[in-house]
Amino acid sequence: MSFETASEADLIEQYPTLGRETWLNHAAISPWPRVVIEALERFVADNASHGPRGYRDWLKVENELRDGLAALLGHVDSDEIALVENTSAGLNLVAGGLDWRAGDRVVIPSGEFPSNRLPWIALRSKGIDVVEIDLPREDPETALTAALTDRTRVLSVSAVRYDDGTRLDLERLGRACRRHGTLLCVDAIQQVGAFPLDPVGAGVDFLACGAHKWLLCPEGIGFFWARADAMEQLQTSRQGWRSCPKPFDFDKADWQPAAGARRFEIGTLNMAGIHALNASVTLILDTGPDRIARALGERVDHLYRSLKAIDGVEIGTPADPRRRAGIISFSHARRASTEILRRLAGEGVHAAVRGSHLRLSPHFYTPMEALDRTIELIADL
Ligand SMILES: Cc1ncc(COP(=O)(O)O)c(C=O)c1O
Repeated sequence: MSFETASEADLIEQYPTLGRETWLNHAAISPWPRVVIEALERFVADNASHGPRGYRDWLKVENELRDGLAALLGHVDSDEIALVENTSAGLNLVAGGLDWRAGDRVVIPSGEFPSNRLPWIALRSKGIDVVEIDLPREDPETALTAALTDRTRVLSVSAVRYDDGTRLDLERLGRACRRHGTLLCVDAIQQVGAFPLDPVGAGVDFLACGAHKWLLCPEGIGFFWARADAMEQLQTSRQGWRSCPKPFDFDKADWQPAAGARRFEIGTLNMAGIHALNASVTLILDTGPDRIARALGERVDHLYRSLKAIDGVEIGTPADPRRRAGIISFSHARRASTEILRRLAGEGVHAAVRGSHLRLSPHFYTPMEALDRTIELIADL
């Protein structure tokens, strides 16, 4: 079924919360599409009738998921992907895994979401120089690359900012990092599932992503990708039965890390989450990441233009569509964002407040009519 031409009833069938709620908060947590709900229902039914007898089939789903995620990241090697709980877990693998030397430098943007701030800030106690760079609206990449020195081990950024939705030019950052011998680490949770991300092409070394936002999945599962040779620079401080080359050989005498990113998966994984994420990644691949990006871009552009035309509204998100992803943030001269949030929620429209701004985040399947109704509500304030 094509979401562009689907009837309202078909769309509601595929995305069940449509029709009851207007969910403009995918940048926080997303509702689950039908395919995810059904995958979870099948997993529950399977277990209810046979218990974990189908474990071998579940492992096949796990491998299918790795392949799907690899395809989603521009066909990276699936051995470079570890399934982890969330974005924070992935970023901590980098901050906790490099062999830090006193005087090393880390560069992050100011005002990052805590997941991409706290693991780095904690390194200050080891004598690491962690600098936070204010990002100018017009050219954030120049500000970041100007802060790189030959002592900079890591530049860690959110591909898309959680508050105002600014999308960074990762390729430019990747090129500058290469010049300084700096590793580029990306918190990708606000981009993957919304806009394509090709970490190899962009020169990214590490990428962490949770699945409960643009990947339309329940909370508690995500993934960590590391470029093969960058992965070798990470020490694995945590070990377990799964992080070995032969996880089911329980009697082995010596422990070696697995050759690929499985070395970071120390124990039993979130199998329900794996089933759910496999379904949503399949949905995204079948729908087409480029088509999703185009549809989402149209929706965000529509919001941008319509909100800009409302007297008193000031947009916080960049005007250039290449600098935007799935988020539009704005403030209103005569109404507090918290008041707008409450009023919208009273009409079944769900958004978020971040800082002083209201944040709207539709997804590719959000009907344009729902956006128009939201804009009318804001215009009538
Ligand atoms: C940029 C960014 N990073 C990370 C997170 C969340 O991280 P985690 O997946 O660890 O919950 C969020 C939102 O909650 C976010 O917006």
